[in-house]
Amino acid sequence: EEEQDERIYKTYEQLILTLPDSTKYLPPFSSSSMTKFHQHLRCYHGFWFRPEFVLLGAMAAQDHFVPRSSDILICTPPKVGTTWLKALAFATLNRNDQPCRQSLLLSHNPHICVPSLEYNLYGERRLPELTAVPSPRLLSTHIPYQLFPSSWVSSGFKIVYLCRNPKDTFVSYWHFINKITGEESYHDSLDDVFNSFLKGVHLAGPLWDHVLGYWNASLVNPHNVLFMRYEELKSDPFVRLRRLAEFMQCPFSEEEERQGVLEKILDMCSLESMRNLDVNKNGHTIKHSFKFKNDAFFRKGKVGDWVNFLTPEMAERLDQLMEQKLHNCGLSF
Ligand code: A3P
Repeated sequence: EEEQDERIYKTYEQLILTLPDSTKYLPPFSSSSMTKFHQHLRCYHGFWFRPEFVLLGAMAAQDHFVPRSSDILICTPPKVGTTWLKALAFATLNRNDQPCRQSLLLSHNPHICVPSLEYNLYGERRLPELTAVPSPRLLSTHIPYQLFPSSWVSSGFKIVYLCRNPKDTFVSYWHFINKITGEESYHDSLDDVFNSFLKGVHLAGPLWDHVLGYWNASLVNPHNVLFMRYEELKSDPFVRLRRLAEFMQCPFSEEEERQGVLEKILDMCSLESMRNLDVNKNGHTIKHSFKFKNDAFFRKGKVGDWVNFLTPEMAERLDQLMEQKLHNCGLSF
């Protein structure tokens, strides 16, 4: 089996070598000839990925993941609050077996509790065995909706999509890629990463196409796609958490409301509580040559933090670009 998996992954590897490489695609940058992090992205059906394991994993997932109608997929572009949404969904779905004081979230990073198809499950060069996982399976992905195979689209699984103001998403992204450490560390200038972002060349980018794919899916199929925003989660946590629970078909009862179950979940999943857990202060996620420090997932969590990093001209450029790309689709930021 191991050999068979190795053959499968080798095929993807070879395919990846034929895909457009960002190094040739991007214009020269100010400080270096290219931001280090974006140097080796590959373009797959119009979206940019890190090839070594993310794209391998995405390709393997496309071909081998067999969804169930009961699956719940947390779908996001990077840096929009994925970690938070994973924690909220996990805590809510498992609240009977794991009340907050016994939650797995106290000892495991949310990205372990809710594994990603392309990073964790299919990114390890071995096809995972997911049939024994009891329903409902709670999984996640950054894979754009446009890249979903038709078998996924028709499976009837539920999608919770989260997005965020693009300027805050970008600022969070820039901090993140300079903070994660693997074999290399990055010191990419804000200007360089910004120029790359405007070209759509960043993890799972272009951002506008990522958002549009899921937005359109939510219009076509509102029962199966819940479209949420980070800002709404921040401003109306109770309302959004209730909605999330209903959508996952485990609504909070009146009794639970009276007992303060929602407060407990929101409190356990708050940025302050999560960041202070030992596992999130000192641990690593994704056992791979490319590992992330858990503390890189927790920064400020502020709406509008972009004003501290982008000039008005940069903000205007990104706003205009998003407006132009999302023109007439009923979605704005
Ligand atoms: P900032 O960099 O703006 O602070 P992702 O989880 O998709 O990687 O997104 C990370 C962003 O979500 C970071 O934003 C991070 O601080 C914020 N975040 C992480 N955990 C959070 C939580 N429990 N509550 C609110 N925001 C959170």
